[in-house]
Amino acid sequence: MPDMHMRRNEGRKMATGATEAAIELRSTGESRNRSRGNPGTGDKEEVLLEVRGLKKYFPILGGLFRRPVGYARAVDGVDFYIRRGETLGLVGESGSGKTTAGMCILHLIEPTAGKIRFNRDGEFIEVNSRTVRSLRRSMQIIFQDPYSSLDPRMMVQDIIAEPLEAQGVRSRRERYERVEELLNAVGMSSQHMRRFPHEFSGGQRQRIGIARALALNPSLIVCDEPVSALDVSVQAQVLNLLDDLQERFGLTYLFIAHDLSVVQHVSDRVAVMYLGKIVEIADVEELFNNPRHPYTEALFSAIPVPDPDFQYKQIILEGDVPSPIDPPPGCNFHPRCRYARAICSKEEPVLREVGGDGHLAACHFADDLVLMGVWGPGIAQTG
Ligand SMILES: Nc1ncnc2c1ncn2[C@@H]1O[C@H](COP(=O)(O)OP(=O)(O)OP(=O)(O)O)[C@@H](O)[C@H]1O
Ligand code: SF4
Ligand SMILES: [Mg+2]
Repeated sequence: MPDMHMRRNEGRKMATGATEAAIELRSTGESRNRSRGNPGTGDKEEVLLEVRGLKKYFPILGGLFRRPVGYARAVDGVDFYIRRGETLGLVGESGSGKTTAGMCILHLIEPTAGKIRFNRDGEFIEVNSRTVRSLRRSMQIIFQDPYSSLDPRMMVQDIIAEPLEAQGVRSRRERYERVEELLNAVGMSSQHMRRFPHEFSGGQRQRIGIARALALNPSLIVCDEPVSALDVSVQAQVLNLLDDLQERFGLTYLFIAHDLSVVQHVSDRVAVMYLGKIVEIADVEELFNNPRHPYTEALFSAIPVPDPDFQYKQIILEGDVPSPIDPPPGCNFHPRCRYARAICSKEEPVLREVGGDGHLAACHFADDLVLMGVWGPGIAQTG
């Protein structure tokens, strides 16, 4: 078993941020460290959203009669919770099921199995096709590509007012007053109300998308790669706006992103997904310092380090992400895992507590492996 001698917490030093966007973020620390109730306890009073056994299998149609010949297990038994007012980052390679999980939570697509419960004023309500309309006010989504999510034929005032109208705000004046308020909240003004999406830059269009998501005073916003389509120079502005809005309106975010340095800055906790499953979840500092799953370690090793004094050997993940139609048996990461042993292709590891404060990982050897994190005083040894 190679590379097992790396010392925990001897991770790479990450400079003030690994991407330009992260560098420009106002937060000067390596991650935000807001006090959020009792971190790690998952105190039920604090929990806003609870997801249990969530699955989404997409049928693969084939043959003459276009019948299901298999299923893509996009989300395959996912459990997590989000506390009120926190940001849960959700990371993983392309195709790991992040968007599908977000869409299921909002019931924009029907889950195959599992329970999603939302805490509305202290009462947990199951999110399903019966309740989703009344919960729509409380749960919203911001998409990656603000251009394709905004109707190009509608004026900004109508785009933002649409959810208000759908939820029964009849008075046109009332709607447009609210639109003005929302535009101000996202750093725009009433001058922009009668313009069309194509007249704005990418960053402004994302601000319009955010204003629309805020229209009904939601508590939870699923942010699906909200800055990935933006120029790097604009990313930090939008991230800072999301941060301000969270403070101001007490919002809770599920923040889906590829860029780990962005996730590091915005998240209180982070969940790592691989092939439809959560393989690790922990408080952000704990995860970045002390990963306990080999997949998380490999993801971290790809974060660029803008410091020539530090060298690090990137862990190359062999092969592609396997197909969710026919995932590998046992631990579905085993064909790409450099620590895999015989048991890994036979028995599926469960997501279990591997440290205090709610640090969970799904690896047979999570207690034995000493993996390399991102922060720390020195350079870890490899090979
Ligand atoms: N409507 C669909 N029908 C069949 N398969 C689908 C469908 N939507 C998603 N999938 C598959 O489900 C898996 C998860 O997709 P998903 O878009 O949730 O991943 P993701 O983690 O959001 O990826 P990315 O980072 O590229 O956005 C992928 O293998 C994808 O091909
Ligand atoms: S269970 Fe085995 S294959 Fe899976 S991550 Fe752990 S060591 Fe690697
Ligand atoms: Mg996605």
